[in-house]
Amino acid sequence: MARRRRFAGVTHLDLSTTRVRAATSDDAEALAGLAALTFPLACPPGASADAIAAHVATQLSPDRFRAWAASAAHALLVVEEPGPPARPLGYALLVVGVPDDADVADAVGRDEVVELSKIYVHPDAQGTGVAGALLGAALDAATVLAPGRTLWLGTNGLNARAQAFYRKHGFVLVGERTYVVGGERHSDVVMVHSA
Ligand SMILES: CC(C)(COP(=O)(O)OP(=O)(O)OC[C@H]1O[C@@H](n2cnc3c(N)ncnc32)[C@H](O)[C@@H]1OP(=O)(O)O)[C@@H](O)C(=O)NCCC(=O)NCCS
Repeated sequence: MARRRRFAGVTHLDLSTTRVRAATSDDAEALAGLAALTFPLACPPGASADAIAAHVATQLSPDRFRAWAASAAHALLVVEEPGPPARPLGYALLVVGVPDDADVADAVGRDEVVELSKIYVHPDAQGTGVAGALLGAALDAATVLAPGRTLWLGTNGLNARAQAFYRKHGFVLVGERTYVVGGERHSDVVMVHSA
């Protein structure tokens, strides 16, 4: 990353120093905070605030991030502006396994695959290239986590920005699934990386 971009009107983000690294348990609190801020941005307009809050509390807690950082079946990456203090700008989570959702299995197969389970970037850093750097590192991490395996993701059908981002980086639409947020059912598209 070698560009300096102005964003959010007042803040400067130096992309030449922004870096992606594996997250550790020490990042758990900060990443849970970033997740609470960014998860609502991925939800469709009809999602209720209570359902989103329940999802954040149960699925995106610091303990969850600590477990992912320590898991051999996951890769948790953070992109940050180095400090001090370092500022986390985004994170990505990969998980390897056999699909446990029938619709996903229909779309991506029943063998072991890698899911890009999460990729979230702070609103201040969206549109700056930070997400592309994070995704590039996630693609590399996927080849280490499970060499040769299909990489797939699900994202809300109304999340046009994320889908455009994924298409731009080589993902193609292969199916649909239902994703439950705080007890509410949402329609996701399923995409696979086709590079
Ligand atoms: C998804 C995300 C990581 C992508 O990062 P980003 O920095 O926004 O991505 P980029 O700006 O590089 O790419 C987004 C593309 O969508 C386009 N776009 C923006 N708004 C759009 C919209 N409403 N409809 C369609 N395309 C849109 C942009 O123009 C850009 O394409 P371009 O580079 O060809 O111009 C980031 O937006 C994010 O964290 N969003 C909130 C959380 C989320 O939805 N995460 C994904 C969950 S599956």
